[in-house]
Amino acid sequence: MTVGTLDLAQIQQLENNHQPPLYAKREIALVRGEGAYLFDSDDRRYLDAMSNYGVAILGHADPEYAAALTDQLQNLATGHQSFYSDVRAELLSEIAGIAPDGLTRYFLSNSGAEAVEAAIKFARVATGRPNLVAAKRGYHGRTLGALAATADQKYRAPFEPLAPHATHVSFNDVDALAAAIDDQTAAIVLEPIQGEGGIWPASPEYLQSAREIAAARGALLIADEIQTGFRTGTPWAITASGVVPDILVTAKALANGLPIGLTMATEAISTAIPSGAHGTTFGASPLACRAAIVTLRALRERDLYARSAALGAQLMERLTSLGSPKVRQVRGRGMMIGVELKERVTPTLRALQQHGVLVLSAGPTTFRLLPPLIWEQQQVDELVEAVELTLK
Ligand SMILES: Cc1ncc(COP(=O)(O)O)c(C=O)c1O
Repeated sequence: MTVGTLDLAQIQQLENNHQPPLYAKREIALVRGEGAYLFDSDDRRYLDAMSNYGVAILGHADPEYAAALTDQLQNLATGHQSFYSDVRAELLSEIAGIAPDGLTRYFLSNSGAEAVEAAIKFARVATGRPNLVAAKRGYHGRTLGALAATADQKYRAPFEPLAPHATHVSFNDVDALAAAIDDQTAAIVLEPIQGEGGIWPASPEYLQSAREIAAARGALLIADEIQTGFRTGTPWAITASGVVPDILVTAKALANGLPIGLTMATEAISTAIPSGAHGTTFGASPLACRAAIVTLRALRERDLYARSAALGAQLMERLTSLGSPKVRQVRGRGMMIGVELKERVTPTLRALQQHGVLVLSAGPTTFRLLPPLIWEQQQVDELVEAVELTLK
């Protein structure tokens, strides 16, 4: 079969017949992207205000990104971490340049969930404790502790018992957090801004207290920046609170579309992990590393952090001042914005799609904007106009 010859009905039929019915599908088939826009199989154009759940931070078909990956594909695409790699070494140096102070060791994998799994395993082995404290509405990925199914003691023994127990406490409630920690807590796991749960920013005081409580009680603090990473005006959202976690995980935007996960940890945590106890075949491939290098350099060299922070602030302010009676609250920071409605959000997602704008839900009543950072004034205007029209 030649790729690109199917019409929408054929595409839908093949996907519906061959995939488990896990996703509520959005009818259209996305076949092409160009900068801030996506195109469907009928060549209809959409403003992309979601960047595939926060992944395509440089937008689509970026020429510099495409050229670098083409070059890398013609050179070396895959390579295991038991061999050194020039591209991996360069990426590690780039990461060191943006890592919070004290996070000096970087484990590279292939997805957000994998980055979180590594963080949990590292926290367990570094503290000798099994459990987690996390937040209600928090989202950290869907793998089921794949390790529970793996037999070899070399991989299992350092991390027993295998199914982590997590207590979920109210977000932004310091007392609830303090009360949930005990001598079996390996780590507190928090998103600095809860993404999937509805774009709820943690207060700086909450993050500072989480830092103090974890340190005082012998647990680690894991910051999940898989969604917040790179899109709140600085590489890390937690920086605004002055807090440095023991472990920071990111994924999504780091390689602008090539699968990647990153678990950053302190020297002490890294030292506690037995050699050979964790790893991945695909992780840190030259192709993914090259994609991440180009992405990180583009964010820096094109001044996308500062520019997107300013555009994000403008977006929030203009969405708020629409004064729509349907809107309960606009929340967020930089290019991570939630608009909470007083009604269920699905009809608004559909109406925006009909107006040529793609946004995501975040919980039952909030729609979420995770635009590429390459947006300019024109895209902000288009978004605000479409939202105004839709909410009328
Ligand atoms: C905060 C957070 N953590 C973890 C994940 C899981 O990442 P992935 O879907 O790449 O496994 C996500 C994905 O949405 C996320 O937003």
